[in-house]
Amino acid sequence: MPVPMLDLKRQYLPLHEELLQALDHVLQTQQFILGEPVAVFERAAAAELGVSHAIGCSSGTDALWLALAAAGIGQGDAVVTTPFSFFASVSAILRAGATPVLADIAPSTFNLSPNAVETVLSAPHPTPIKAILPVDLYGQCADWNAFARLGNAHNLKLIEDAAQAWGAEWDGVSAGGLGDIAAFSFYPTKNLSAAGDAGIVTTNSDELAERSKMLRQHGMRRRYHHDELGWNARLDGFQAAILQVKLKYIEGWNGARRAIAKRYHVLFRALGLAESGPYPFHGIVLPQEVPGSKHVWHQYVIRTARRDALREFLASRQIGSEIYYPVPLHLQEALKPLGYKEGDFPESERAAREVLALPIFPELRQDEQQTVVDAIAEFLS
Ligand SMILES: Cc1ncc(COP(=O)(O)O)c(C=O)c1O
Repeated sequence: MPVPMLDLKRQYLPLHEELLQALDHVLQTQQFILGEPVAVFERAAAAELGVSHAIGCSSGTDALWLALAAAGIGQGDAVVTTPFSFFASVSAILRAGATPVLADIAPSTFNLSPNAVETVLSAPHPTPIKAILPVDLYGQCADWNAFARLGNAHNLKLIEDAAQAWGAEWDGVSAGGLGDIAAFSFYPTKNLSAAGDAGIVTTNSDELAERSKMLRQHGMRRRYHHDELGWNARLDGFQAAILQVKLKYIEGWNGARRAIAKRYHVLFRALGLAESGPYPFHGIVLPQEVPGSKHVWHQYVIRTARRDALREFLASRQIGSEIYYPVPLHLQEALKPLGYKEGDFPESERAAREVLALPIFPELRQDEQQTVVDAIAEFLS
């Protein structure tokens, strides 16, 4: 039986009528960019996350850039982040005019390691470090207690890349409210997804919210009076309307993802395939939920020594899988000018060789999940 990595139609079909009505409402208002449909979604999103402000924008990448720019990070500033993330986590820092400084990940969570950040902070840097940008990777929050402590101790801004983590929590606080300012992506494959590019900035600071709104509209507070160099990073009404509909369902969808992750754990353990980790030997290492946090399983990522062969084997059975991410950011061609080289971040480089994301989406059926697990068991036998 083929098993897709993701099947967005299964989410769309039951919502078909509701989504069409929401889109029709936007057509009725004729407010296509910002306006009422966006304002309604921004209020609902902020309430859902328990933050004071949500500022809709054109993508997760733009949300990250806005968050950095609103926080005053720019030329002459350095920002510490992870090499094991989507490209935008680093490129947004460069777009903001600042310098990315990388620190390695913790092998058990794949998230930025506070110890590695501490080491970076204790070394001299030609460009002063002004912020830390942890990523809540795969739907699990980074170690925000540690980053809050480091932020306070070194007087740094905390910028949260929550692109993959809608609904995740750390110590009872939702992703999006863990740093000074955060960025979400609503790219169609995300847990909460638009029908195109869309994103949001969230913050509890009135000042940062105000600056984000100004910067997403060409630095304009008063019409055609430009106080600063901003950009066009606005959210459109159709995307906001779709997201507003999906907000009603996201908690249930994340609950379904959690149930699927739990079931993978149970099935793999029952077959004796799970190793204790953090590194794999002959079997697989299962992803872990950090105690006290809530993982929303944007991805279910195993580690295995024979990753590429396993992926090929699954593909031969028409079972989807994906590698997030095959090349750590310090080894990306476009980021060569940062001056890093192979061997600089061994945990990220090892993760890039060993990680494999398995199918996980709310509508994934149990028989499909069983097919995935059986195929992996066959490969490992
Ligand atoms: C961790 C991370 N940061 C930033 C982004 C950028 O979001 P977008 O694709 O909406 O620009 C993404 C999404 O792809 C992401 O996964």
